[in-house]
Amino acid sequence: MSRHADIRRLTAPDIRARKGGEPIVCLTAYTAPMAAILDPHCDLLLVGDSVGMVVHGLPNTVGVTLDMMILHGQAVMRGSRRAMVVVDMPFGSYEGSAEVAYANAARIMKETGCNAVKVEAGPTVAANIDYMVRRGIPVMGHVGLRPQAVMVEGGFKAKGKAGEERRLILDEARAAAEAGAFAVVVEGVAEGLAREITDAIPVPTIGIGASAGCDGQILVTDDMLGLFDWTPKFVRRYADLKAEIAAAAASYSADVRARTFPGEAETYFSNKG
Ligand code: KIV
Repeated sequence: MSRHADIRRLTAPDIRARKGGEPIVCLTAYTAPMAAILDPHCDLLLVGDSVGMVVHGLPNTVGVTLDMMILHGQAVMRGSRRAMVVVDMPFGSYEGSAEVAYANAARIMKETGCNAVKVEAGPTVAANIDYMVRRGIPVMGHVGLRPQAVMVEGGFKAKGKAGEERRLILDEARAAAEAGAFAVVVEGVAEGLAREITDAIPVPTIGIGASAGCDGQILVTDDMLGLFDWTPKFVRRYADLKAEIAAAAASYSADVRARTFPGEAETYFSNKG
């Protein structure tokens, strides 16, 4: 039997069944050790294409590649046991045609062993979601602020304030759910619209900067850990790790410079466990 046989992860139907029930806890993860820390506390770990900005220092997610997503997806699968792992499909890997979307999603699933993929469900993507779901790929949608649309939008902007845009976002969420998405991320919209979408679709909504009116929540983990000076306004910081890391690095630096660094060979394994 494979090692995976004894791991019972949450699945797309498990998450789908939580509609209107116990809130769904989601965070992003990009590495094996962080996935291991978060896993007991989360229902779903998203290997978000935010990895491009958070880990690789890119200005937005447009430059993220399929190979990057697969590498980080493999790491998160190795580190986690229980949470459902969803890997983002990067810009350019699913919008062009249903066949291309399916081939790239299948590659992600085969090479990482993840449970599902996520796509930013703009106006033309529902048909590709339908094609993938019918062929065995669980798909999560993403509406509202779509970070991969940053170039046409001219920045990261809250969405759905005006009537026409509001209707479009509601339609995109409905279309993603009708196409078979098992859940839909709703990003950067006001509470009224988040609640309207949550009431309108039969699958869970996962909010990010979209109020408590969703079936679950997701945050970029590094934001909520306080690793960056700037975070979006809606992010609550649950830790101040940037300051802690800087203080640790300063203490280490002081030890090394004072020749008081306790790293001799006898103590090499003493911190284990
Ligand atoms: O890439 C990402 O981290 C995401 C979340 C913000 C939902 O898509």
